[in-house]
Amino acid sequence: AKTVYYDWSIDWVTASPDGFSRPVIGINGQWPCPQIDVDLNDRLVVTIHNNLGNESTGLHWHGINQYGHADMDGSAGTAQCPVPPNSSFTYDFPVNQAGTYWYHSHTQGQYPDGLRGPLIVHDPNFPYHFDEEITMTFSDWYHEQMPTLLNYYQSTADVTNNSIQAGQAPIPESGLINDSQNNKIHVKPGKTYLIHMIDMANFPGVAVYFDGHPFTAVEVDGTYTEQHFLGDQNLRIAPAQRWSVLITTKNDTSKNFVIFATLDVNMLFPPHGIPSIKGWNGNTTAWLVYDDAKPLPPQKTFYSFDFFDDVALVPYDRAPLLEPVDRRITMNLQNASIDGITRFTINDVTYLPQKVPSLYTALTVGNYSTDPVVYGENTNPFVLKYGEIIELVINNHHENLHPMHLHGHQFQVLERSYPDTGVFPGTYMANVSSTPIRRDTVMLNKNGWSVWRFKADNPGVWLFHCHVEYHITSGLMATMVEAPDHLGNLKIPKDHIQACKNYGMEYQGNA
Ligand code: C2O
Repeated sequence: AKTVYYDWSIDWVTASPDGFSRPVIGINGQWPCPQIDVDLNDRLVVTIHNNLGNESTGLHWHGINQYGHADMDGSAGTAQCPVPPNSSFTYDFPVNQAGTYWYHSHTQGQYPDGLRGPLIVHDPNFPYHFDEEITMTFSDWYHEQMPTLLNYYQSTADVTNNSIQAGQAPIPESGLINDSQNNKIHVKPGKTYLIHMIDMANFPGVAVYFDGHPFTAVEVDGTYTEQHFLGDQNLRIAPAQRWSVLITTKNDTSKNFVIFATLDVNMLFPPHGIPSIKGWNGNTTAWLVYDDAKPLPPQKTFYSFDFFDDVALVPYDRAPLLEPVDRRITMNLQNASIDGITRFTINDVTYLPQKVPSLYTALTVGNYSTDPVVYGENTNPFVLKYGEIIELVINNHHENLHPMHLHGHQFQVLERSYPDTGVFPGTYMANVSSTPIRRDTVMLNKNGWSVWRFKADNPGVWLFHCHVEYHITSGLMATMVEAPDHLGNLKIPKDHIQACKNYGMEYQGNA
């Protein structure tokens, strides 16, 4: 194992991924942000310098569980303070999970303005043969910046110039593949490609289809799967999810092939379907290019989703269903209007950001760390005992789909209901797998539910939230305070405390 260092200036740069030029948040003067490549068990050290001038920042390592390193999780207000302009901050942790991950800002709805990128952890013992690797990212894209879009979202009046009704999330101007609308992926004939697909969306996920090249799924969210041949189905990728698939290229170079991705209209326009917004097109195209001299097939429009149920996947390690359950926690997700502003609640609590990071609270209150009261009601805290097997039941009482994510774990997904099935009936379906698939993000259907399990063996403070950025900032979030009495002598690094000072917060604990 080696140590991989990055030294990053976080700054505003100008980019025009869909032809419209706007400020985006880049790294070292570049955008798209770079891909991080490490090998399994490497140590990753990333120092950031906030040169944005006008916004605080930070980086979260989505899907990396930070075992023993809860202070490196990057969620502002939970694991650290926001890093204010002119401050630096170092993340330093071992990477002992293989597969497809990503990094993104976890500060004030910031990553849709550009601060996000792939994190690929290579494994010398990857279970399947492949010749080459490709990374593909997908996202929605907006011409206005997040602070403005969030104002629209929380506005009590209709914002007519952007087709937004009060309380509705702004509609993206376009969709991107690899932060572009004109992406050519060069391939060689007769090879097997491992394609890491990452959805870095703000709001709608995507359906992805490769013409003439069926997918075989081999990994979801860092969990290797038994090979699952998807045939010609398009692949639905929810915001923050990752899928790795194998494709085999043709034996000749006589033709190039088109790749389509379409923004998930089921998420964008509930419950009325695609509106006739003038000129709106949620499709984006890329190409598998065998020969640059050959024509590129035309773009195509589709809005169909062949729903492949990822709960049917089998993990490669066939880890057994966790049982018996020590504790069931039920999460009821609801839409609420609070003081005329669109908010979301979990069990009637809307999350509000904390000035003192909840992890720092856990480290400074001694024996009270297991008392939920010390974390503040607005963090929606759930204190878990070390080693408990937790069953999370999530009931979505809302008419939209929600990609729910938990930090610190890849949990087992026992069930996910169809749309409009109400709340979990309390008994399992007959066909719960004895070897459930593990993910860190699961798409809940509208007015539907899902049941997950995990073992509370990772001391730390971990967020549970919807990965739609509008919904995070609207409070659709809870805090899992996991085994806070087992944090041992976790010490907050000096530069993290300095960032807090610069932010206006004094930390009184172990440094
Ligand atoms: Cu992608 Cu709270 O994270």
